[in-house]
Amino acid sequence: MTPFRYEPLGQDDAARRGRLHTAHGTVETPAFMPVGTQATVKAMFPEDVAATGAEVVLGNTYHLMLRPTAERVSGLGGLHTFMRWNRTILTDSGGFQIMSLSGLRKLEEHGVAFQSHIDGSRHLLTPERSVEIQGLLGSDIQMQLDECVRLPAERKEVERGMRLSLRWAERSRAAFEAMDGPAKGQALFGIVQGGDDAGLRVESAAALSAMPFEGYSIGGLAVGEPQDVMLAMLDETLPVLPAEKPRYLMGVGTPHDIIEAVARGIDMFDCVMPTRAGRHGVAYTRFGKLNLKNARHADDPAPLDPESDCPAARDYSRAYLHHLVRCGEGLGAMLLTWNNIAYYQHLMKTLRTAIEQGRFAEVRAELGRLWAKG
Ligand code: GUN
Repeated sequence: MTPFRYEPLGQDDAARRGRLHTAHGTVETPAFMPVGTQATVKAMFPEDVAATGAEVVLGNTYHLMLRPTAERVSGLGGLHTFMRWNRTILTDSGGFQIMSLSGLRKLEEHGVAFQSHIDGSRHLLTPERSVEIQGLLGSDIQMQLDECVRLPAERKEVERGMRLSLRWAERSRAAFEAMDGPAKGQALFGIVQGGDDAGLRVESAAALSAMPFEGYSIGGLAVGEPQDVMLAMLDETLPVLPAEKPRYLMGVGTPHDIIEAVARGIDMFDCVMPTRAGRHGVAYTRFGKLNLKNARHADDPAPLDPESDCPAARDYSRAYLHHLVRCGEGLGAMLLTWNNIAYYQHLMKTLRTAIEQGRFAEVRAELGRLWAKG
């Protein structure tokens, strides 16, 4: 069993190159994690996800606890076996998804009581239960239960959510150690909250830094605030976090968001954008974003990117992709998702190489011009 470890490999200004070691392999950072909410990266075979270069995927406590349940996944050998993904898995803790998906919910000191969006059944998620579920799933990198307050919000409300998240951080850590998470090679990350208030963010980051987490997530961003506010929050927060631990910016983002966050020292990202866009006819490529629904692709025999090593990008014409998307065919969603995950992995590799070669500023400017609009 490999104990969880973050290995710093180098830096170019504030941008960091590193490597995570988990019980299921290594993850080169900065890394993008495809979202596999329901034990699947939607519309992709796990082998193809791996072939794009992805070394870690994200799973969700909220969805899996409701269906098929953590106990069932555990009985079937854990999430890695269940979904045929033998590399690293990171799981989110559930609070964020309860707030966006479930029906009736009641948030208290003890935890969140909520009704399932699937069948209305009643459930309770506490910091302890979230860690227990993530342990049953066999997640390599777990998240504390937190509360993400949607922006815009009153400072008082943001502060209340941040302080509750800090108390839940302590309880999550105690539960994680009680179930021997560290001895199993697993990691638990604390989550920084504090909305768009720099003072609250710094306080949250400082308090979490004093707790022995294996890594730190930045939550509560990309929830409706402008990009410059998000980046300003990173500028305030990241210097407070321990440099020897990995940092994960949750739910982010566009290529431009990722480039700018890497420039500030973020190591890990996840976002539904490439997978969701793929199911809606949108392709991310080295030449920018394309809407394959658009009639201008109807007669175009060229592939999305002849030089890509992803078959979806290289071997299928834009005309064919346009046709599949127009017909609502499943293969259109599959190919565009595959292309998009491959592009995001290509982007991360480009950023890692740029950091290694001390060319990050140059690459940031070049890619920034391409992705400035989204
Ligand atoms: N995913 C995106 N943002 C957040 C957040 O603030 N908290 C959690 N747990 N997950 C997220």
